[in-house]
Amino acid sequence: MFSSTYLLPLLFVPFTKAQNTSVDLNWYAPNSTWVNNLSSVINGTGTHSFVFNSSQLPRGTRYGTYNWCNMPHVRREEYPVADKQYELVYVEVIHRHHKRTPYASNTFPKESYSWYCSDEALFYYGKPLNANGNASASTYWNVYTSNTNPFAPTGFNGTCQFPQITREGLDDSWQHGKDLYGVYHDLLRFLPDYMDDKVTYRVTNNVITSEVAGMLIDGMYKPSATIPLKIQPPSVDSLEPAYTCSAASNLFSSYGVGSSNSVWAAHLAAAKPLYATLDSISGVANTSTDWHTSFDHYFDNLSARQCHSKPLPCAISNPNNCVTQEEADAVYRLGQYEYSFIYRDSSSSLQASVGSFGVWIAELAQNIRDSISGASPVIYRHNVAHDGSVSRLLSILQIDVMVWPGMGSEVVFELYKNNGTGSKRFVRILWGGQILTSSNPTLGKVDMLNVDVLLAYFDGLVGVGASKVVAYC
Ligand SMILES: *[C@@H]1O[C@H](CO)[C@@H](O)[C@H](O)[C@H]1NC(C)=O
Ligand SMILES: *[C@@H]1O[C@H](CO)[C@@H](O)[C@H](O)[C@H]1NC(C)=O
Ligand SMILES: *[C@@H]1O[C@H](CO)[C@@H](O)[C@H](O)[C@H]1NC(C)=O
Ligand SMILES: *[C@@H]1O[C@H](CO)[C@@H](O)[C@H](O)[C@H]1NC(C)=O
Ligand SMILES: *[C@@H]1O[C@H](CO)[C@@H](O)[C@H](O)[C@H]1NC(C)=O
Ligand SMILES: *[C@@H]1O[C@H](CO)[C@@H](O)[C@H](O)[C@H]1NC(C)=O
Ligand SMILES: *[C@@H]1O[C@H](CO)[C@@H](O)[C@H](O)[C@H]1NC(C)=O
Ligand SMILES: *[C@@H]1O[C@H](CO)[C@@H](O)[C@H](O)[C@H]1NC(C)=O
Ligand SMILES: *[C@@H]1O[C@H](CO)[C@@H](O)[C@H](O)[C@H]1NC(C)=O
Ligand SMILES: *[C@@H]1O[C@H](CO)[C@@H](O)[C@H](O)[C@H]1NC(C)=O
Repeated sequence: MFSSTYLLPLLFVPFTKAQNTSVDLNWYAPNSTWVNNLSSVINGTGTHSFVFNSSQLPRGTRYGTYNWCNMPHVRREEYPVADKQYELVYVEVIHRHHKRTPYASNTFPKESYSWYCSDEALFYYGKPLNANGNASASTYWNVYTSNTNPFAPTGFNGTCQFPQITREGLDDSWQHGKDLYGVYHDLLRFLPDYMDDKVTYRVTNNVITSEVAGMLIDGMYKPSATIPLKIQPPSVDSLEPAYTCSAASNLFSSYGVGSSNSVWAAHLAAAKPLYATLDSISGVANTSTDWHTSFDHYFDNLSARQCHSKPLPCAISNPNNCVTQEEADAVYRLGQYEYSFIYRDSSSSLQASVGSFGVWIAELAQNIRDSISGASPVIYRHNVAHDGSVSRLLSILQIDVMVWPGMGSEVVFELYKNNGTGSKRFVRILWGGQILTSSNPTLGKVDMLNVDVLLAYFDGLVGVGASKVVAYC
């Protein structure tokens, strides 16, 4: 009485593999570096060569250096080509959208200048899909305020939606697509010359990922036809992620943002003087919990400005009282520390991430299985997502050194056949364009790992069909 949908997983995922007890599902602490060392973060200086002020790296800086404004990704120049005996058979890419304005929720109560997006446009329209149907004009949003409307917008004035991928962020997206195409098409001759059903793109319900996807796909294929972007309904979107998992949210809240966890409280306490200075300039009330339970808002506010060569903010009442570069750098160090704690240093991080991102992991595992079984023609899947998606993925992979995934942060899963081993498949995981190393010994340096081991790790954590996620949430 098996339907074909049940038959496939049974045939290709023998239970013995899912129950392989030699796959270690435990949480392992990340490396000790400045990122998770409170004394380095609070009493240190600078940003340890991390870049926060341009999409371009300073002259002479090695590509691969952390750049919040435009993180490293797979490019031809640095791409580690696999040994000739391995044949690439499936690629799945996930990355954070590119640089944007701040979210309105991260703008100061009164901003000292305006932010314009008049050099780009966001196209919104519906259109019948049948070629002979009525057509649609290619219309875009033109943001304005009127003198008659008595309410001033929160945060910045100007002509942007907050958030919106900026003009430079659009160009970074295009280049990202071109660089991926340079490797997977030009160098490896893996991608088809023209877009077909072998190549698919997916976005989240936050429109900024669609803004990126359009540019990125043009950087790859310059298609003249319309292109579908796969998207799940907002209530169940596994990529954003947006499905409800109260157990995971509660677990995050028990040790991270808003919690009284001693490690979390200690960093906020140590940062009190910095908070006082920033509040006095921004006008944010020191009672505002949004701003004072983590550095997220200050980090986003300051970095969005600096990534777009805008000056650090000054007090409305005193234009000479401005945030200094030293203070901004301290915020950037604290942001790294917070992401490392929430997604890696806390021993609860693995379960919290498994609950909140496990559905996407199960989908990835199924995509890999479908590639192996031949059930799907897709050889390249591309997901445009958020820092919340990439952080949770890195958490589940137990990356050795966690950072806050900046704009364009990329993880690539590559599935290979080895021509000497029959049907066996192997996996590489690339982070920032280079091989990812996990603190979990089952994964280790993920360079031609037996795919059965990775699938057993995923199944062990999230269950086939995300059954364990459902049970947990
Ligand atoms: C179990 O996993 C280990 C690696 O962790 C692998 O070497 C072994 O072949 C696997 N055994 C089975 C039966 O899949
Ligand atoms: C983390 O530590 C391991 C083991 O000492 C080392 O091999 C690896 O290079 C470290 N990773 C980073 C990014 O420093
Ligand atoms: C920073 O340095 C001060 C002065 O030496 C010290 O009292 C404080 O404990 C240090 N903070 C951290 C988090 O190590
Ligand atoms: C943290 O950094 C401080 C100062 O940079 C150093 O003395 C200390 O050994 C580090 N702690 C750990 C656990 O690495
Ligand atoms: C970015 O900051 C670094 C120092 O942190 C500085 O050397 C560089 O000139 C700055 N770049 C831009 C474009 O402002
Ligand atoms: C298998 O890989 C070897 C090593 O690169 C290569 O020389 C050989 O042609 C390959 N064989 C097949 C059948 O692809
Ligand atoms: C900057 O801070 C304000 C808080 O007043 C917040 O509303 C806004 O979203 C922040 N900007 C960004 C880009 O996050
Ligand atoms: C265009 O819309 C009109 C009004 O609904 C409808 O009658 C007509 O059939 C549509 N034309 C095409 C080509 O679909
Ligand atoms: C923003 O617009 C409001 C009116 O809507 C105006 O009062 C305010 O001065 C403007 N702020 C800036 C920085 O231009
Ligand atoms: C908050 O700011 C007010 C003055 O604006 C001050 O009296 C109070 O002590 C501050 N509270 C904290 C917790 O810093």
